[in-house]
Amino acid sequence: MINLIKIYKKILKSPILIFKSLKGFLSFSVRFSLIISVIRFYDRKLKLQGEIAKNNGYAKLNLSSTSTKHLNKLFNESFYKKKKLYLEPSSLITFKEIFDKLNPMIINYIGKNAKLDNIMFNLTTKEHANSKASSNWHTDNVGARLKVFICFKGDGSQPTYIIPSKTKYPKMFYFLKSYLMEVFRWLGKSNKIKIKNEISLIHKTGTINVLDTNLLHRGCYENATKDRYELKLEFSDPAKHFFARRVLLSPIGTEKMYSFFFHKDFLKLNSFSSLLDQKRTYKKLKDHYLYNDFDIL
Ligand SMILES: [Fe+2]
Repeated sequence: MINLIKIYKKILKSPILIFKSLKGFLSFSVRFSLIISVIRFYDRKLKLQGEIAKNNGYAKLNLSSTSTKHLNKLFNESFYKKKKLYLEPSSLITFKEIFDKLNPMIINYIGKNAKLDNIMFNLTTKEHANSKASSNWHTDNVGARLKVFICFKGDGSQPTYIIPSKTKYPKMFYFLKSYLMEVFRWLGKSNKIKIKNEISLIHKTGTINVLDTNLLHRGCYENATKDRYELKLEFSDPAKHFFARRVLLSPIGTEKMYSFFFHKDFLKLNSFSSLLDQKRTYKKLKDHYLYNDFDIL
């Protein structure tokens, strides 16, 4: 009797599952066609020079041990207490190192309109292998956008796999391959297959990995032997935000939950302040600015 009920429930559920998969498949297909037409139009204006372009979409750097330790301290002060990120003068040296290293790379790749979107702490564990979003092969469906992973605690057992493009900006053939690889997750299936030419970005204490999320990538969490702690930053050209967010419903720009405060002294840090979008910078408190995308949210 119990078995019969189970079978009955399964039969009842299958049309719902088929409908859900079909809906996911159709919305992804529409979104994909808009990316290869409209978003590519915006991305044609990218500068695509420097180290990231030389590697066709990624770069590997290192962070000093002093700054690595500082990020760990900052994480412990804010992450577990679910407090907003505050960049205080005590963090200036660390952020000077980070932005001095990143700024020329980002401007050279995205161009003079490149802006900071998000700064957030992130903790990934073995359980993230069950995540449909990041553990399967995908692109972020926003066209060119740089994500920076600064690992301040990790043993390298949770790498990000990427499929390099043969060209500075992926050609149509690469996009079609991306579509075929990603469609699985929109059908509710996982796709963690090993690909011959995949490159491994290792996240271990003191590494900085920069990735254009236009490339096919996936987080490999399934073999984790330790948790991965990182500061994640995102940069893009805001010209395409309105279309990407309003029409594609893709996650790009400054998300309200990741809005952060920075002390006025950070404005003197040119490598940091030149990447701030004035439209998202609000004087909020006596000595602090709030960085948030009120316009769109
Ligand atoms: Fe992603």
